[in-house]
Amino acid sequence: MATDRLTLRLWCMEDVAPFVALNADPAVTEFLPGPLTPEQALSFFAAQNAMYVQHGCCYFAAELTSTGELAGFVGLKYQDVSLPFAPCHEVGWRLASRHWGKGLATEGARAVLRFGFGELRLSEIVSFTVADNLRSRRVMERLGMVRDPGLDFAHPALPADHRLSRHVLYRLPKAAFGAA
Ligand SMILES: CC(C)(COP(=O)(O)OP(=O)(O)OC[C@H]1O[C@@H](n2cnc3c(N)ncnc32)[C@H](O)[C@@H]1OP(=O)(O)O)[C@@H](O)C(=O)NCCC(=O)NCCS
Repeated sequence: MATDRLTLRLWCMEDVAPFVALNADPAVTEFLPGPLTPEQALSFFAAQNAMYVQHGCCYFAAELTSTGELAGFVGLKYQDVSLPFAPCHEVGWRLASRHWGKGLATEGARAVLRFGFGELRLSEIVSFTVADNLRSRRVMERLGMVRDPGLDFAHPALPADHRLSRHVLYRLPKAAFGAA
């Protein structure tokens, strides 16, 4: 999948070093569990590529088309874990901090939403994040997603008193994307 500046593709071995490096940046992991080892990166890649085979979508590697550099990921994840609103399709993103502030996450996510509503014929796409992750929430809002405060939740993978536990949910029905 291509946008003006990004190529969204499946993952490969060459992505390990840049993906480990971007996850080693404390700015990137401020609202995420933390850095990744190369083995964890490979298992993340394998899970994403397998999800693409099974569900037709995943968090895609996001490469800068002009240089081939891995900027991070943007994509659509099929979520069937024990979230209050699952199963669902979640749009998500993570970029190296040197690529923030350029509109790349929003640009990639628009293409992914078009793909989800078009090719995959989804009726709704959601996104969620730690309540304090305002950068990520701003991307959701730029995409026209609307928070559903009734569906705020404590992430089931974390202890209830963990600093990253409280999450907010944003929703985008297909009709609202078409209208935007
Ligand atoms: C969340 C994250 C992807 C947001 O990145 P971002 O660069 O702020 O988001 P966008 O790509 O939408 O860029 C928007 C910014 O680029 C600016 N911009 C510059 N050119 C632009 C363009 N052509 N189009 C749109 N915005 C543009 C906007 O003004 C905005 O800047 P601002 O936030 O200072 O107002 C990034 O902070 C990140 O990777 N964080 C760590 C991982 C993470 O938390 N992921 C989410 C977990 S749920």
